[in-house]
Formats: sequence, structure tokens, C-alpha cells
Amino acid sequence: MTMTDPAVGSAAPGSADAARTRTEDLLARHRAVTPRWQSLYYEQPIALSHGEGRHVWDVEGTRYLDFFGGILTTMTAHALPEVTAAVQEQAGKILHSSTLYLNEQTVELAEHIAELSGIPDARVFLTPSGTEANDAALLMATAYRRSNQVLAMRNSYHGRSFSTIGVTSHRSWSPTSFSGLQTTYVHGGYRLRSPFRDLPDGEYTAACVADLRQLLDMTGGDFACLIAEPIQGVGGFATPPDGFFGAMKEVCDAHGILFVSDEVQTGWGRTGDHFWGYQAHGIVPDMLTFAKGVANGLPLGGVVARAEVVDAIAGNHISTFGGSPLVSAGANANLRYLLEHDLQGNARVMGERLRATLAPVVADTPWIAELRGRGLMLALETVHPGGIDPDPARAAALTEACKDRHLLIGKGGLYGNVLRVAPPLSLTAEEADEGAQLLVDAIRSLG
Ligand SMILES: Cc1ncc(COP(=O)(O)O)c(C=O)c1O
Repeated sequence: MTMTDPAVGSAAPGSADAARTRTEDLLARHRAVTPRWQSLYYEQPIALSHGEGRHVWDVEGTRYLDFFGGILTTMTAHALPEVTAAVQEQAGKILHSSTLYLNEQTVELAEHIAELSGIPDARVFLTPSGTEANDAALLMATAYRRSNQVLAMRNSYHGRSFSTIGVTSHRSWSPTSFSGLQTTYVHGGYRLRSPFRDLPDGEYTAACVADLRQLLDMTGGDFACLIAEPIQGVGGFATPPDGFFGAMKEVCDAHGILFVSDEVQTGWGRTGDHFWGYQAHGIVPDMLTFAKGVANGLPLGGVVARAEVVDAIAGNHISTFGGSPLVSAGANANLRYLLEHDLQGNARVMGERLRATLAPVVADTPWIAELRGRGLMLALETVHPGGIDPDPARAAALTEACKDRHLLIGKGGLYGNVLRVAPPLSLTAEEADEGAQLLVDAIRSLG
């Protein structure tokens, strides 16, 4: 389980003290130059040195099984040879050209994403992040509809910029109410804490839809778009019933309101059953945004929509870094690998495997309210036994207990009380079993 790689140790090989000093040193330097609000995981943060497959090593040489992939971004595998080779080859040719020049890698990538998106007459605008993808989507939607009013979901997260925190209702990530957008948050993504949570699936959806309908009646319904994550990522993999967004979109369609599916976490087959999260809802969105795993950690995001929507932006629009030749080459290789190896199918099978081990333990643990999510996007929500009062201290203790067992998992949720399990999609059966057992041991260690 634990392996030490002396090659990546400290200045004095084999000396644990010297190695510790290296991480502590880095931490002190980090704290001296980074903003207070840029937080790190763990009481003793980890400095990563390198990765391979589903494992990463810290600078002391300790190996961890990676069940978070740098926030669901190492999508295929760490150090995937196909991606490394493509990036190396492109780096030897040209790193950068900007959107002012044609580039084969970039055009090929856009063609492929347009085809995969399922959106008719699709145009693709590439960006360096998910935040910028959503920012561009909001710009397009508001221009197309000539309205700055936006609908978003309660418990949403769409990025860190001024516009995207304006559609983020997750309070820890939305530090200001100043915004050029007028946003109204609607019900539905986060069922556990919804006033409608006790209703069965169909009635739950109907209650949320009725609320939306009334909201549109009362306000006049002049909204540009409804932006939604099919499964809320930062919000703790909160998952509405299948078909939920289909029912919401029907109401939006009647008002001409665009539906924007933020697939930054749910895209590319991570949910196992579907390539895109929106497919669980029987719809094709008007717009789709993506980022994170598409280039396996290289900075890439984008927005896809029908030409008439994308082209609603008057004037010029460029992105210096969006879809650079280097990043596009990596993304092309990454997507090829993903599709050729049916990693979506693997996500479904491995997700079920993880769930089979975790579900009985969760059912037996009074301080875990539920196991939710789909495919390789699973979450546990910690609560005080006997109700659903959030217990973030227990979630923090569980992430530390996993780390002690050399398993990296993520945290999230409105109250910081959700554990997120999201390994690379190439996870093997052996690794799934090992990781699930480590997580079970960690849960049991906390009583
Ligand atoms: C659903 C969703 N949208 C947008 C973003 C923003 O992406 P980025 O961090 O690449 O700007 C994130 C990041 O976590 C996300 O989870």
C-alpha cells in the first residue's frame, strides 16, 4: 500500500527530517506569497512530486492512491504516455499561436467536440478554464436574449470570476453580491436539504417545476438562460432525479430561456451511464460548457452552442490562450484514449463496484446521511446522527483518516461536510477494491 521512492526524496536521501523540512519549507513560502483564501487540503498539506496511472507521489516519496484527480481533472490517468508524447511532439513545434492563426490541432479538437456535444449546428469556443467557459456562455446567452437576468440552481458552483460567482449560490464560493447579472436561484439540484426531499422522484420534480413556473409567471420570465450542473460538483455531487432537467427545460423552452448544461465535472463519461450529464434528462441543451478532464490537466475549457447563439456576440472576441496548439494536442490525444478504451464504460463498472462496497457501510453508519452520485462521481454526506445537521468536523476527520491510509479523496458540499470520490476513469478493479477498503477502514476508524 505504501511505497517510498527514494529518487524523489529530500536533499538528504533517506532522511525523514530533511524530507519534512522540504514540505514545511514549501508551505511557509506558499503562505508568504499566496492569498489567504487560496486554501490547501489537510492539516499537513501534501506537496506532490509526480504521478503514474491512478497514483501520485509526494516529495517525501510516499505513494497515494488518487481518488480525486486534482478535482476530477486527471481524467484518463497520470502521466498517460499517449498524452505525454503528444504534448512533447507539439512542444517541439509550436507552443502558442493565439486564436488569430489557424492551427490543425485546435481545429481538429473543435470538430471533435462539436460532434460529441450532440448540439446541432454546433460552434465551439475554446477557453483556458471552466470559469471562462461559463463566462463566455453567460455573455452569449445574455447577448442572444438581450437580458441580464439569469436562472441558476441553489447550491450551484460555476467558477471563480466576477460573472460566474454571480451565478454561484454556494455561499463559501460566492463572496460578493455585486454582479452585472440579476440571478434568481431555483430549486432542485440538492435533494437532501430541499423542502421537497420527502417526495418521491416524480413528485419532487413536479414540485420544483411548479415553483419555476410560478417564478416565471411572477417575474415575466424574461430570463436569458438557466445554467445548471447535471450533478453539482462543488456542491457535493448533489444529484436530482433522472428527467429533472428535461421537465425544467420544457418550462424554459416555453419562454425562450436557454438551457446551459455546465458539464465541467460531469462531462466525458465520468457518470458512467452517459457521456454527458444532460443525457440523464432526455434533453439536448442549448449550450454546453466543459473544462477539467478534457485535456487531462492541461488548461482547457470551452462552450458549445448553436451558431445563432454563439454568433449573438457583436464585435470581435478572442482568447489568447484558449485552445492553444499545445493544449489542443494534449486534449486530442486524451480524448482519443478515452474513446478507444471506453473509459465511460469503465466508469460505470468501477462506479458500481465502489458503490457495492460502500453502500452497506454507509447504511450502517449513522453519521453518513447518504451515498449519492453516479459512475466515478460518488459522495458521502456527513451529519450528526439522528438528523441531517451537517457535521463538517467529521468530514475533515475522514479526509485525514483517508490520507493516513494513503488515499486521496475530495471534500465539498455547502457546509464542507461532503466527501467526494472521483478517481481517474481508467481505475482498475484492483484499485477500486483497494480504495473502497481504505475508505471503509477510515470510516470505521471514526466510529
Ligand atoms: C461545475 C463547474 N463549473 C465551473 C468550474 C470552474 O472551472 P475552473 O476552475 O476551471 O475555472 C468548476 C470548477 O470546479 C466546476 O466544478
